[in-house]
Amino acid sequence: MTRIVYLALIVLLMLVDIGCIAQQPLSHETDPTLKALLDKPPAYPQVNFAVMTDLHTYNPDLGTDGKAFENYVAGDYKLIKESAEILQTAVGQINSENVSFVLVPGDLTDHGDRSSHELVVQYLEQLQASGKKVYVVPGNHDIDNANAVRYAGDIALRIRNITAEEFAQIYGDFGYKDALYRDSASLSYVAEPQEGLWLLALDSCRYQGKVGEEETVTAGRFSPQTLGWIEEVLAKAARAGKAVIAMEHHPVTEHFDGQARNFPEYVIENYQAVSRLLAAYNVRLVFTGHFHAQDITERAWPDTSKFLFDVETGSLITFPCPYRVINIDGAQKAAIRTAHIQSIASHPSDLQGYAEAQLENGVAATAASMIASYGVDGAEAQKLAAQVARAVVAHMAGDEKLPAGQPAIQENGLSPMAWIGVELRKDLVDSLWKDLPPPDNNVTLDLNRGVWQ
Ligand SMILES: [Fe+2]
Repeated sequence: MTRIVYLALIVLLMLVDIGCIAQQPLSHETDPTLKALLDKPPAYPQVNFAVMTDLHTYNPDLGTDGKAFENYVAGDYKLIKESAEILQTAVGQINSENVSFVLVPGDLTDHGDRSSHELVVQYLEQLQASGKKVYVVPGNHDIDNANAVRYAGDIALRIRNITAEEFAQIYGDFGYKDALYRDSASLSYVAEPQEGLWLLALDSCRYQGKVGEEETVTAGRFSPQTLGWIEEVLAKAARAGKAVIAMEHHPVTEHFDGQARNFPEYVIENYQAVSRLLAAYNVRLVFTGHFHAQDITERAWPDTSKFLFDVETGSLITFPCPYRVINIDGAQKAAIRTAHIQSIASHPSDLQGYAEAQLENGVAATAASMIASYGVDGAEAQKLAAQVARAVVAHMAGDEKLPAGQPAIQENGLSPMAWIGVELRKDLVDSLWKDLPPPDNNVTLDLNRGVWQ
């Protein structure tokens, strides 16, 4: 067989495979009994719970001084050095909230090393000790992380990361041991945190050792096996009359226009098909993280009257250090409230300002070097980068709104090179400022009708 024919066959097989995922009919479309059940979504039981995510916990025992650590922190937007302190404070605050369980959709650790995972467990045990159940799934930093290092002066030394099996063992008390069902192809599981409510806890990450994965990457996807398992357990939930919420690290909807095109690794692969699958089975709330932004978006399918809210929560250690508290009442209204960590021992009064500066300066530095690499003069690159950073900070905080009369990017007096760059990329900065509905931080979602107040 010639090489060209062989290549053509591979491409054809890939297209057939992609087509199967995108166009395969869902089970209920061929099963009238199941379809009839799904036409009447079960009511969510009354419940209070919290969500915190992207904790990126770093065990300070791995080193918090020296040139190598300082270099790592300087190039980052998060409060890595303070991460354990922030988690400790969040656990204290959530312990005083009236919630029966806590969801943590991934990136529990930053470097993915065993000692940081064990530190996270110590804090999650404090939530459990005050009677709150805790459920976790992995994020892209947690398993087989190639950047598991400790710092000694000028050098970073590789240390042991953890495998998927170890993740399920370490977090056995936080979802895995009490799971009603587990997927054999991933670390996904189903739990029943409250009578009548199923939690579909999904492992959307790609790490070595997972079916079909050869390396650890930022992007997320479900294998065909896991998609099949998801549909199977959702059909079980429908037959058992259980209402379902889901959580996973990678969002299932775009959180600003053009996100999937510009940052494809920050929405799950085939997000349209995945969100359609969940919504078809009456999953109306999906709790996600990964992009470190406070943002809620809705996707609706008017032909079937199905809808789904993707409630993305910002990173606990990135400005504005948020977590969420959710109350679902008997009228099927989900009241979502956002709280922020305002103070930790090392930053008793300036934590928010300190976190905002870390994010804004970090984004501005990255953007400035990127803009300068296109041949824009250094001072002009910095001026443009500051405007990009302002948009990112606003998007991360949620409920972003460009002040009246101000452009997202000031275009007057730009050099020709900068003008070309701005014309090519300003849509992206505009879209970061344009908040997709509904509101992001404090909102009440109607889970019967897909509207909000
Ligand atoms: Fe993260």
